[in-house]
Amino acid sequence: MQIISLSNALCAALKKQTNIGFVPTMGNLHAGHIHLVNLAKQHSDCVVVSIFVNPLQFGANEDLTNYPRSLEADCEKLKAAGCDIVFTPAVAEIYPQFTQNNAGMSLNQTILIQPSAIANDLCGASRPGHFAGVATVVAKLFNMVQPKSAFFGKKDFQQLFIIRELVKQLNYRIQIMAGETVREASGLALSSRNDYLSVAQKQQAAELNQALQTIAAEIKVQNTEFIMLENSAKAQLNATGWQVDYVTVRSALSLLPASQADKHLVILAAAKMGNTRLIDNIELSR
Ligand code: PAJ
Repeated sequence: MQIISLSNALCAALKKQTNIGFVPTMGNLHAGHIHLVNLAKQHSDCVVVSIFVNPLQFGANEDLTNYPRSLEADCEKLKAAGCDIVFTPAVAEIYPQFTQNNAGMSLNQTILIQPSAIANDLCGASRPGHFAGVATVVAKLFNMVQPKSAFFGKKDFQQLFIIRELVKQLNYRIQIMAGETVREASGLALSSRNDYLSVAQKQQAAELNQALQTIAAEIKVQNTEFIMLENSAKAQLNATGWQVDYVTVRSALSLLPASQADKHLVILAAAKMGNTRLIDNIELSR
């Protein structure tokens, strides 16, 4: 396995490859990431994983500085999973125009990709600019890696949706493939941010998935009062110490609020436990 941090060196290493599978990550890898690497291995001759904590997708008061970084352990996991190349660019390699000042990263001169309106909804509503940051870095990484296929987790359902839209609208010839959400036995979706939780908080964190399961169970028995189901889940979570951002039933095809006619639904939630913001979702066909 090669570890490469310069884009030119990456380009040289990939020159003869025609079936590259790409898994973009921000590191601190867990079984959810490795699941995507395994999928990439099944579909590609050469697997590239990027590890880059993208400053552009973090808001001013978010956890950019504290975001867990564990490059050595990550590389061991990737080697064991059969990854061929780990791409670990520095910030200046991705954003040549970036300047850093005391207030954080300045976006001076950086061309931004502004995704479609759905980027301002759900997580985008409380994280303005987040998905423009994601879309921009993913587009840049796609240009550097030039993969045949790229692998994203359903855990970040809105992100996956926005990336599919990006590929369609910018005419990338890249197949986007989705990996199922990998969970703890409790149902808690694996996330690099779970490392912020105390032992007690981690136990309680499974309530987020349980709230989604409760809504799914109601919809399965034909209770389609979506707003009532959402409000009851929010109240329940808020009552046990969460600060709910949203719980919402959407069309899995458009991500717009679900109508009675929608057959393929996704129930999404975001909530804070202490200072840690967690997200989860489950899909449901009816
Ligand atoms: P990161 O949070 O590191 O996630 C990298 C990939 O792993 C994403 O596609 C994410 O959906 C997937 N993933 C995370 N947890 C998962 C789980 N429990 N099960 C399955 N897949 C999971 O998402 C990002 O990084 C960044 O926004 C990125 C796309 C790299 C752009 O900077």
